[in-house]
Amino acid sequence: MTSLHNCPAPAKLNLFLHVVGRRSDGYHLLQSVFQLIDRADRLHFDLREDERIVRTTDVPGVPEEQDLIVRALKRLASEYARRHGHNPPGISVAVEKVLPMGGGLGGGSSDAATALMAANCLWQAGFTSDELMAVGLPLGADIPFFLFGQTAFAQGVGEALAPVAGPDCWYVVIEPGVAVPTPAIFGAPDLTRDTKGVTISDFSRHLENRRDLSGFGKNDLQAVAIRMFAPVAEALEWLGRYGDARMTGSGACVFCAFSSESEADQVLADVPGAWSAWKAKALDSHPMKSLLQNQRVVE
Ligand code: C5P
Repeated sequence: MTSLHNCPAPAKLNLFLHVVGRRSDGYHLLQSVFQLIDRADRLHFDLREDERIVRTTDVPGVPEEQDLIVRALKRLASEYARRHGHNPPGISVAVEKVLPMGGGLGGGSSDAATALMAANCLWQAGFTSDELMAVGLPLGADIPFFLFGQTAFAQGVGEALAPVAGPDCWYVVIEPGVAVPTPAIFGAPDLTRDTKGVTISDFSRHLENRRDLSGFGKNDLQAVAIRMFAPVAEALEWLGRYGDARMTGSGACVFCAFSSESEADQVLADVPGAWSAWKAKALDSHPMKSLLQNQRVVE
């Protein structure tokens, strides 16, 4: 096989996000439930005759050499070369960007994770999931989750992952139209950094009893993002009229869960035209996994 086209890189939502401490290197210790949803960037991969990693599409605001896709593929190529004693073939990547930058949906990290899975397959490299996670983690704390590929209770900086069942629901997501820089939110002096820990069974028990998320946890980054970015506050206030609206990641996107698609549709129809908004279904597993398995070439 020399090409993999239409590879999905789905978004994630952080159903809650607690900052429970800080490591000596400045990174924050988190607790979160990461949920995959069915809104995705699309990536296309073609093996090359040479050994170069090339992005063939322009992504506004992301120069090719800074793109997590390119950086992740270069790291994987080095690891391949270390193991095999020669470089793997180069790859051309085309990106159809759907997920907003600085939106808290993990778009850049998801693109990188999809690229690692695709290259592993195209190169028939046989890296395990844990090995791909080790390649991806230094580039972004969310990358291991996308490689893990199912709803996860995350701890550490986001790399210690355990499977957990999420709510079976539809989400309405609003993009407030600002890009939030993650380091500025984590670096804010007034960020709450000592939220009391919860356990995976606290989360599961809450879902069993209540069937939905409302009342469980919060996003500790939200207070800082609201203070710094008025559009995030406005979107949260608007969506909050329909339920327990929350921010995902470090923002800017905000979401609310609904038990049926028709409820989500009704809310979506009311969203003021100035915002881009959409509905999304929770995904149980990463669509790349089944795509690669069906081609019988997965590790
Ligand atoms: O790894 P990622 O790209 O998600 O992180 C961007 C920035 O957010 C980091 O450079 C760091 O400043 C901050 N961060 C953090 N603790 C985390 C994740 C991110 O302080 N667990």
